Amino acid sequence: MGRVRAPGDKSISHRALIFGALAQGLTRIEGLLEGDDVLRTAEAMRRFGAQVENLGGGSWQVQGQGGLAEPDDIIDCGNAGTGVRLILGAAAGYDLAATFTGDASLRGRPMNRVMKPLRDMGATFLGRSGGRLPLTLKGGGLKAISYRLPEPSAQVKSAVLLAGLNAQGLTQVIEPEATRDHTERMLRAFGAEVRVEDRPDGRYIDLAGGQGLTGTAIRVPGDPSSAAFPLVAALITPGSEVTVEGVLLNVLRTGLFETLREMGADLTLSHVRDEGGEQVGDVTARYGPLKGVDVPAGRAPSMIDEYPILAVAAACADGVTRMRGIGEMRVKESDRIALMATGLAACGVGVEEEPEGLIVVGRTGGNHGVQGGARIETHGDHRIAMSHLVLGLTSEAPVAIDEAGMIATSFPGFGTLMAGLGADIFPS
Ligand code: S3P
Repeated sequence: MGRVRAPGDKSISHRALIFGALAQGLTRIEGLLEGDDVLRTAEAMRRFGAQVENLGGGSWQVQGQGGLAEPDDIIDCGNAGTGVRLILGAAAGYDLAATFTGDASLRGRPMNRVMKPLRDMGATFLGRSGGRLPLTLKGGGLKAISYRLPEPSAQVKSAVLLAGLNAQGLTQVIEPEATRDHTERMLRAFGAEVRVEDRPDGRYIDLAGGQGLTGTAIRVPGDPSSAAFPLVAALITPGSEVTVEGVLLNVLRTGLFETLREMGADLTLSHVRDEGGEQVGDVTARYGPLKGVDVPAGRAPSMIDEYPILAVAAACADGVTRMRGIGEMRVKESDRIALMATGLAACGVGVEEEPEGLIVVGRTGGNHGVQGGARIETHGDHRIAMSHLVLGLTSEAPVAIDEAGMIATSFPGFGTLMAGLGADIFPS
């Protein structure tokens, strides 16, 4: 029970630092997510020549140099796929060499998806087999391309657009399915011109090369992907009511809220307002019965990081929930389809894993809860960890996770915030 603020949005936080470094002049950021992923991006931008200063209380300042300079050491992006892929795109436009690495999870994730279009533009890469980190980029001398995204990925879109800023000609990205548009919005906020057009075969995004960015003020809204954890906790824990304030409500990010409503969730919005060009609002969740649903595959891009916690809600719902078209979940911080299937099954929940889907059989009709009682292998994935801890709030026996430190990559203070709402989460 209670009111909390979600930490700053991770996607917008990475972008604010990178754009601030690319820009000429001062960028002031309020509400930056101070999780490990974003702090790595702040450090990376310092290495590329920007002055990045933490002013305290979520306020940060970036003095950009109007471009990136060659770093004098390896860039370690930690756990952050968004950080490394966006920085690769941004750095590709400059005549520099830079070597990137990350933690074990990031070193296992596919970078080919950004290297392919960046190579087409003229960048050179030398990396491990399978397009894995560590890898070295040699940038500069780029030519614009038109690129149709083979997978719905805002990271790839953003990498190409950021490279396009310093490419000769008109860069075009075509998205068959619209993904989060924070890069397009932020490019405009920093003074660039971006044209977006919806056509029958997808969304066309055009950006002319050679445009300079100018520093600006950015206010980072609360992260809907983090707000999801206390909100779902309230929906499945008898007697609960939780309000998360200042949550980003960009429609390309709110697929989870739509799905939860279809499941019968008591989820209400209040104080909806425009903040710095994004819609934000307070989201209130109250405990109540949920029913299983079929989640439309086309909704995946707007809730791709939220399927693990949706699977937890589904485990507590009446009936079957089918999640399909979610193959991208397999290449996140972990193979999230496999880990949710294993974790839920270990907690006594009926699950079926598909190559690109997950089916969860909720507690059909009876009033028995989820059994729980398992120790979950998280493979260092913050969202797998938080999802199972939330499940443990209503399970008959407690749920334990193998490691909790990585939760701070996206949600520093998660345990304290949840404890403040009455959750019994403690180190075992
Ligand atoms: C992000 C895009 C998504 C998402 C990630 C953040 C972004 O990844 O999963 O957490 O900020 O652009 P993909 O673009 O690979 O789908």
